[in-house]
Amino acid sequence: MDFLTLAKERYSCRKLTDKPVEPEKIERILQAAIAAPTAKNLQPYKIWKITSAESMAKVKKATNFTFGAGMVFVVGVLKNKAFVRPFDGLNYADIDGAIVATHLMLAVKAEGLDTTWVGMFDAFKLQSEFNEMQGYELIALFPVGYAAEGATPASRHFERRAISDAVEEI
Ligand SMILES: Cc1cc2nc3c(=O)[nH]c(=O)nc-3n(C[C@H](O)[C@H](O)[C@H](O)COP(=O)(O)O)c2cc1C
Repeated sequence: MDFLTLAKERYSCRKLTDKPVEPEKIERILQAAIAAPTAKNLQPYKIWKITSAESMAKVKKATNFTFGAGMVFVVGVLKNKAFVRPFDGLNYADIDGAIVATHLMLAVKAEGLDTTWVGMFDAFKLQSEFNEMQGYELIALFPVGYAAEGATPASRHFERRAISDAVEEI
């Protein structure tokens, strides 16, 4: 699949199955994620792979948005490990994390799987359930699985600004 097709075919899939995801697919998804560029290559992020039923039960205490998936990835960043732009103090941690998360999200689609970028979760709750996440800013959670029968994009998926509106030639 060429990149434009992949970008256009991806949608937030909110109806997944809990069929286990093959380890080699997970491996390729993670390879794509760690290939992401980060400011000054500081890579101030962590990805948690959560697959066990016990850990999934903990995730569900922090969000309703797991959409039937049997596994999730959580992406977190460390502010104090990120590049800070000297001119204005902009901290790149969130930006770096979002690039990693975007690579991961698109790689999921490329593997024939589906996901939704979930921002609506209780980060404090997640950190209280998973000690490993303490100290990180948790920016994204991705339930990952095979699309369930009848899964379709929400109507919002089709509401995209036109290039003529989004882009200005100056
Ligand atoms: C940063 C971010 C946070 C999001 N959080 C949620 C969420 O918590 N729950 C959800 O159902 N969708 C969430 N979404 C999905 C968006 O609603 C969705 O991407 C948007 O409506 C466009 O639809 P599409 O992804 O199907 O093209 C999030 C997307 C982004 C980029």
